[in-house]
Amino acid sequence: MRYSDLTTRIAGEGSAAWDLHFEAMQRKNEGEAITVLSVGDPDFFTPTPIVEAAIESLRAGDTHYAAILGISRLRQAIAKRFSQESGIATQENQVAVLAGGQCALFGVVHCVLNPLDEVIVIDPTYVTYEGVFGACGAQMVKVPAKVENDFVVQAADIATAITPKTKAILINSPQNPTGAVIPRDTWLAIAQLCCEHDLWLISDEVYSSLVYEGEHIHPATLPGMAQRTATINSLSKSHAMTGWRLGWVVGPTELMTHLENLGLSMLYGCPEFIQKAACVALESDLSETIEMRQQYKLRSQSVTHALADALGATVFKPKAGMFVMLDIRPTGLNAHQFARRLLDEWGVSVLVGDAFGRQTEGFVRIGLVEPVPVLLDACKKIKQLTKALISEKENSKSLCVAGF
Ligand SMILES: Cc1ncc(COP(=O)(O)O)c(C=O)c1O
Repeated sequence: MRYSDLTTRIAGEGSAAWDLHFEAMQRKNEGEAITVLSVGDPDFFTPTPIVEAAIESLRAGDTHYAAILGISRLRQAIAKRFSQESGIATQENQVAVLAGGQCALFGVVHCVLNPLDEVIVIDPTYVTYEGVFGACGAQMVKVPAKVENDFVVQAADIATAITPKTKAILINSPQNPTGAVIPRDTWLAIAQLCCEHDLWLISDEVYSSLVYEGEHIHPATLPGMAQRTATINSLSKSHAMTGWRLGWVVGPTELMTHLENLGLSMLYGCPEFIQKAACVALESDLSETIEMRQQYKLRSQSVTHALADALGATVFKPKAGMFVMLDIRPTGLNAHQFARRLLDEWGVSVLVGDAFGRQTEGFVRIGLVEPVPVLLDACKKIKQLTKALISEKENSKSLCVAGF
């Protein structure tokens, strides 16, 4: 049978990057002792009050079609939270509830971009972006966020990449995979570019609750930005609710009208019992979420500290998020070879940085998705591998010198 061209555009390298992870999961499910650190899925349980609210809602019969853009109570809770965090007064009609940050991103991109429009994204790029832009036909123009700049993109590099075809910039801060956080002065310069060139800013803020160093800036708060910014967030990381698929967009009311039409032709509203549970998540500061945040910070510090003296590898200290990046280029292997050997010889799975773009080639991403003792054990194994690789490298060098 014949399929659409879209099927080719959504099957990029982004989906192939997960092959080793799926293999690790399968081997773990078959009983092998494998520590899976290749995914950004929190190991924490969703806080009990949220789970209870969903059950109660189901029992009360909330099993029918729900409002396409979300129930009023939830849209209000999101608007209130955003107003408190950003300081901009936000109303319910500036909010759309969608099935996770991913679906929110998909919706915004389809309402804002035409095929062949250019959209500036930052390299490293979160792996699913390629498929999202592939689906709508927009062209990604990558601007590097280099390790020597702490993986923070430079506004001057963005300026150089803007052409008459550019319609939007997509920025993810705090960033997956590096945990980089864009500082205020860089944001101000990016905002100025958006205003000067009449661009949309799509701001993916799904890690905004997990900042350990520096501050999270909502670009929508910057001069001239509220009317051109679509802020995307979700409960996935902040509340350990990845499987609930609950996210949202905050932006101009006209964008919400278009998202409603798109929602009508596709999702037809998130399940009401999930929305009721989300209200409980957002209407108060649950102690469980505060504890999770502290744990991620502790895990991030423990892993960076444990890997600081790794022979043949350099650890990058994240400012936010739930990942730590390790540069393994000095071992002489590429990231794929390294991840393969780490899985096969030491039973630890990590994601190759190459999946995110050129700037993280030769890095591996370690997910902080296990308790500290498990992570420290994984770090020990990683260090044993890097050490072994360095001596393999030195042995092969001396064999070469000896003329073998
Ligand atoms: C940068 C980034 N954006 C969006 C998402 C999607 O999140 P959600 O679970 O809310 O769809 C993820 C998930 O890992 C992510 O890392």
